[in-house]
Amino acid sequence: MADDGAAQPSPASTAPAGPCNGRLRRAAAGLLLGGGSSARFTWPVRLEPEPVRGEPARRGSVSPAARPSVVVRELRADDEDAWRALRQAENDRLAPWEATLPVGGGEVLSAFPVFVRRQARRARLGEAMPFVVEVDGALAGQVAVDPITWGATRSAQVGYWIGSTWQGRGIMRLSVALVLDHLLGPVGLHRVEINVRPENERSLALCRGLGLREEGLRRGYMHINGSWADHVSFAALAEEVHGPDGTGFQERLTRGS
Ligand SMILES: CC(C)(COP(=O)(O)OP(=O)(O)OC[C@H]1O[C@@H](n2cnc3c(N)ncnc32)[C@H](O)[C@@H]1OP(=O)(O)O)[C@@H](O)C(=O)NCCC(=O)NCCS
Repeated sequence: MADDGAAQPSPASTAPAGPCNGRLRRAAAGLLLGGGSSARFTWPVRLEPEPVRGEPARRGSVSPAARPSVVVRELRADDEDAWRALRQAENDRLAPWEATLPVGGGEVLSAFPVFVRRQARRARLGEAMPFVVEVDGALAGQVAVDPITWGATRSAQVGYWIGSTWQGRGIMRLSVALVLDHLLGPVGLHRVEINVRPENERSLALCRGLGLREEGLRRGYMHINGSWADHVSFAALAEEVHGPDGTGFQERLTRGS
């Protein structure tokens, strides 16, 4: 199992350092980011759900005050102990969905602190956003936005996992909604993709529940749990969600539409 952070890290996130030094990398990224996009890109960011306004009190329903507090924030070096404990406890459950490195590529997994530093650097360059999900102050899972590409594509890929204590409570669906709204809104991306193995019923349900567009099967799309695996591709475009009539994913969830 990949031991360096996200459920589906891109090959770039585990690749050994390239020949460019920091200054050259920044210069290259500056060219890719182009005018305007870097000005909108802030890191770290903290995403929290909007409070639900005017919600009618129903008998037997959980009051908004009693709901768990969900925060999506940056992965930090001091998350290591909580992250490691959760990942070790959940290894068997997560392994079937984990990205792995194909043999023969010369790539190696990084230690947690190295991974966090590398991801933070990539986040500052606008290449990735390594988020964690915190529920009532406890680290509950991860949402990896990786890679982000600018230029003529302005797109990103998103992967995620959540610990079993919090699974099935709509927390990851809400977290992904917050991240998609952030990427397609303030960050200014045009397209976001989530790729899911056809056997992963929970993740398929999450994407369908969010109303993401299903674009078809990608054969051998990613190396998962030791072999190349087909993936169903889901996507959203900024104008579909945040255009003149768009409401955003979080609001869609709140409205139940
Ligand atoms: C995929 C994953 C993040 C989903 O998390 P979750 O907490 O179950 O997500 P949510 O509760 O927010 O919503 C999941 C959906 O699955 C549905 N679901 C719940 N139990 C299910 C089950 N046994 N089978 C199929 N769907 C199920 C829920 O009803 C919900 O659908 P809805 O939006 O139509 O109500 C979680 O299962 C996980 O971490 N899996 C392992 C890692 C992984 O697969 N990562 C994704 C790789 S693409």
